[in-house]
Amino acid sequence: MSIIYKTLEVLKAKPENAELLDLLKAHDHTSYIHSLSVAGMAELMYPVFAFKGIKNSTEIIEGALLHDVGKLFVSAEILKKEGKLTPLEKCFIKEHPRCGGILLHDRSEIVKNIVHFHHERLDGSGYPYGLKAEQIPDYCRYITAIDIMDALLSRRSYKEPLSLYQIKGELEKMRSENNLDMFYFDKIYEFLTTGILLPAKEVCAC
Ligand SMILES: [Fe+2]
Ligand SMILES: [Fe+2]
Repeated sequence: MSIIYKTLEVLKAKPENAELLDLLKAHDHTSYIHSLSVAGMAELMYPVFAFKGIKNSTEIIEGALLHDVGKLFVSAEILKKEGKLTPLEKCFIKEHPRCGGILLHDRSEIVKNIVHFHHERLDGSGYPYGLKAEQIPDYCRYITAIDIMDALLSRRSYKEPLSLYQIKGELEKMRSENNLDMFYFDKIYEFLTTGILLPAKEVCAC
C-alpha cells in the first residue's frame, strides 16, 4: 500500500476538499505542497500513536490536508514576502487558523479542531486562541509537530531547508522553551533518522 493511499482516498471522497486545495495551490503553491506533505506524514506516522477517541486516521488526514486552508484569506503578497513581516502582516497571518475553521464550520469536530488549534502552544503563547495544554487535543499536538517539522525540512522564501543535524539543535531549543509536546517531535525525529516506526510505549502526560 502506498504511503499516501489514505490521503488520496480522503481527497477523492470529498471533491470539495480537492477544490479547496486547488484554490490554495493557485493562491500560494508553497502552502499547497506543505499541506500535502503534512497529510502524508500524518498518514505515515498515524499507526505509531493512539489518540483518545479516534478510531481511524481519516479525519486526522482530512484535518492535516486542510489545516492551512485559512491562508486563502491572507494575501499572497504577505504569504510570499521574503523580508520581515510588519506587525499588521503578522496579525493577518495569525488569523489563518480561525478563518480556516470558520470556512470549514460544517466539518467534523476533529477536522475543525486541527484547523483551529494547530498553532496553539502548551503554555498559552500560541495563536489565535491562546489555549493551554489541557485544552489542546493530543491529535492537534501531533499535527502541530508535523507542521513544524515539515517547515523546518522545507525551503521557504526566507530560509533554506535544515539538515537533520540542525533539526536536532532546533528540537533542543524547543525543549528548553517547554511549550510544545516534544513526545511527538521526538517520535518524528526518530523516524526521520532511523526510518523505523515503532509504536509509542508511553502516552505523553502533558
Ligand atoms: Fe498554519
Ligand atoms: Fe502549516
